[in-house]
Amino acid sequence: MKKFYPIKKICCIGAGYVGGPTMSVIANNCPNIDVYVADIDVDRIASWNKKDLEQLPVYEPGLKNLIKKSRDLNLFFTTNIADSIKQADMIFLSVNTPTKIKGIGAGKASDLKWVEESARQIAKYAEGHTIVVEKSTIPVRTADTINQILLAYREKDEAISSPKTFSVLSNPEFLSEGTAINDLQNPDRVLIGGHDEMAIESLAFIYRHWIDKSKILKTNLWSSELSKLTANAFLAQRISSINSIAAICEVTSANINEVANAIGMDSRIGNKFLKSGPGFGGSCFTKDILNLIYLCDFYGLEKVAEYWEQVLKINIWTRDRISRIIIEKLFGTLSGKKLVVLGFSFKANTNDTRDSSAIQICKNLLEEGAKLEIYDPKVKKEQIENELNEKNLNSQENFRDGTWEYSESIYQSAINSDALIILTEWEEFENINWQKISANMRKPAWLFDTRNVANHDLAKSSGLLVWQLGRDLI
Ligand code: UDX
Ligand code: ADP
Repeated sequence: MKKFYPIKKICCIGAGYVGGPTMSVIANNCPNIDVYVADIDVDRIASWNKKDLEQLPVYEPGLKNLIKKSRDLNLFFTTNIADSIKQADMIFLSVNTPTKIKGIGAGKASDLKWVEESARQIAKYAEGHTIVVEKSTIPVRTADTINQILLAYREKDEAISSPKTFSVLSNPEFLSEGTAINDLQNPDRVLIGGHDEMAIESLAFIYRHWIDKSKILKTNLWSSELSKLTANAFLAQRISSINSIAAICEVTSANINEVANAIGMDSRIGNKFLKSGPGFGGSCFTKDILNLIYLCDFYGLEKVAEYWEQVLKINIWTRDRISRIIIEKLFGTLSGKKLVVLGFSFKANTNDTRDSSAIQICKNLLEEGAKLEIYDPKVKKEQIENELNEKNLNSQENFRDGTWEYSESIYQSAINSDALIILTEWEEFENINWQKISANMRKPAWLFDTRNVANHDLAKSSGLLVWQLGRDLI
């Protein structure tokens, strides 16, 4: 008896931060399977196909190498969505699912318009039996929505000799940006949720090419969908917890690094995800907790909703708290002062700026009239422009006389500046030549280190005043 559907061709709809790296790893590990990554964004696909691998639209350590090995052999980036769907035995959905900004559930629920659109495309173009795999982070019970759309088309086509059939699986992505390739190559676990045993086996077979079967978990659809939200909520909760303790450290003369180390050695707590910082960012944490809150509200679990809401409140409070400290240390006014922002991505080793704490902090400083120079080794100027909404900068109402410029050199930007503010833990910030920097700054000059990565002793001995999150008195 046949135990699984043979998979020869895979299609992934969405060539973003999840789709691109995930499919590169599958293609590399499964040379007998052809992988088509399809996207409506023509420019993005063109970038994935560029000869110069420095121009790939996603920066991830190790990604270039995989693309070099597989592209145009069994890994293809295309805008031809219809054909990619038509020939695929299995289709991954990796499209955007941002938080809704309008209508019912605005500010909490996910906007499923891209998922729905993709499901309709699949329903229209798929042939024979197709396994549809949810990869994007989605609200619990999205598989129902996808199923209903697919079913509606199937019924319409029942007259034809070989009707289309579908199995829907949930296979949430746990990759973390900046370490995506390693996370995909050596995951803690792979989760597959579904009702169709044969479809689950087919997907498990793909992962077994490089992952031990003990790490492949099979659950029902809803447990799988909820596990993704829960994992992200727990991780985000740890960060809000440690950031709340950082604030206590500052008023009690405790040291957050020492506290984190001390509690992390308790094996029940563990030492990961205990770094205090300017608050969590990225495309998942805030969105997933909002999703969880929406779900709780929907089912009348008011107290549970309030509980998770607090994790987000501490995150926003952390961003504002840091901005307030900077303003206070600079004598309560930033008007006309030049501040150098070091790092704009939401964490190191990625060019992603979605929900980066740097956005809120920069906006706060601009509102106070600061002249910012923003430096990030991987984020492009246009990206910062999008996030800070350049148009508003000219509006007195929004940012008063604050302005910002893109910095190409930390040392150049530091000239005549009043402060440097580290917001992302890029490795190069650990090795800054503070003597050279300090010599050119206006005194009293400050280093604000929200990630605790700089060499503070050197900065101090070079004449800078230093404020480290969770360590120095406010
Ligand atoms: C997260 C989850 O880790 C991943 O499993 C899921 O698939 C997607 O969401 P990602 O957003 O890429 O991944 O980054 P992550 O490393 O989790 O960091 C998220 C944010 O938390 C960053 O802004 C980071 O700087 C911050 N963070 C993380 C801390 O402030 N302290 C820590 O100890 C860890
Ligand atoms: P993620 O971090 O989840 O990968 P991204 O925003 O980086 O999110 O990528 C999502 C991609 O999905 C984008 O490149 C977007 O153009 C693509 N996309 C959205 N809707 C569709 C669709 N209907 N068909 C094809 N691609 C789509």
